[in-house]
Amino acid sequence: MKFGTGIWVVLVAGVCLSCSRQQEMKEIRSGEIWPDTEGNHINAHGGGVMYHEGTYYWYGEHKSDTTCNAMVGVMCYSSTNLTDWKNEGVVFSVADDDSSDIARGCILERPKVVYNSRNDKFVMWFHLELKGQGYAAARAGVAVGDSPVGPFHFLRSERVNAGCLPFDMSQEEVALFDTLDGSHFKEWWTRPWEQAVKEGLFLKRDLEDGQMARDMTLFVDDDGKAYHIYASEENLTLHIAELSNDYRWHTGRFVRVAAGGMNEAPALFKHDGTYWMIASGCTGWAPNEARLFSAKRIWGPWIQHPTPCVGPDAEITFKGQSTYILPVAGRRDAYIFMADSWRPEHPSDGRYIWLPIRFSPDGTPVIEWMPAWSLNYFDKLSVEKQ
Ligand code: GAL
Repeated sequence: MKFGTGIWVVLVAGVCLSCSRQQEMKEIRSGEIWPDTEGNHINAHGGGVMYHEGTYYWYGEHKSDTTCNAMVGVMCYSSTNLTDWKNEGVVFSVADDDSSDIARGCILERPKVVYNSRNDKFVMWFHLELKGQGYAAARAGVAVGDSPVGPFHFLRSERVNAGCLPFDMSQEEVALFDTLDGSHFKEWWTRPWEQAVKEGLFLKRDLEDGQMARDMTLFVDDDGKAYHIYASEENLTLHIAELSNDYRWHTGRFVRVAAGGMNEAPALFKHDGTYWMIASGCTGWAPNEARLFSAKRIWGPWIQHPTPCVGPDAEITFKGQSTYILPVAGRRDAYIFMADSWRPEHPSDGRYIWLPIRFSPDGTPVIEWMPAWSLNYFDKLSVEKQ
């Protein structure tokens, strides 16, 4: 699809208050066509952004016009200003080999990339479903590259943390877990089944072969430790799992968050020492109300708050589903909420919702609908705060 950049980009004269000089900032217009620097609608869905040496890299699913299956792979776009994105091409490609885990036509979703300074490598994790098996495989995949623009080389895909229980389970919880018996629950969605799910019915079912890992994100903490956060246990419970120092393996240390809460599409950030997580409910491609959680430590306890969204369509996350929260480089208190407005009938036409996060006086994030805004918004916020 070709579009003139004029459709999306409107120049606004904004005053950069922090540097007291007139600057031109381009607007971000959520839900509209977002042309790259060549005029093509950006094709990077379910994505995330990595900042590295002065440049932002936006990685996401390449979507075709007629299918949500992965026919191409993971795309990357680069930018220094968060509005003009250069297409860096396919940085991780599906394989022309049906015996490969990443065979063309598989489902490859929500890729995220982090930089590992210990070995100077870029590590990509993604949700993988094997070709022809619908969403049954529920695997995490990992690939590694020497450069932010790839190519990324596939390492493996698997269910995760086989043989490990959440390290924070109390003796009482382990005792209850031990009594769970899947054969008692022929029927789903009954009260006793829901209780058993909370106690770890599916955790137990998958203990030996590894836990399901679908919608996912990555988070690197200030101490350089990386975490994989994913929808597990039949999309009923989120897990936060520690990655090894090279970011390529799970260490076996993980916790469950909001057991039985049916959350997916997790996105995590840290502000003033508090961890915040935004997630969605499980309604497939259709939008639902965003969920907000916070914790003082990454391992929890995680507390649920009301939705952070405010304004028209706030109850359906402005027609979007969370995918990432982007800290704006070098700026305090500046975070961008990234979501996808899916179009399953024409997947490549899926739209992006990018909105600034502001913090209420008690520190709770608020995401207000704005059809158009520019990065100057954060200057205004910091002036208000002074
Ligand atoms: C969504 C999920 C997407 C995709 C879709 C398939 O709920 O967040 O990443 O998996 O379901 O229906």
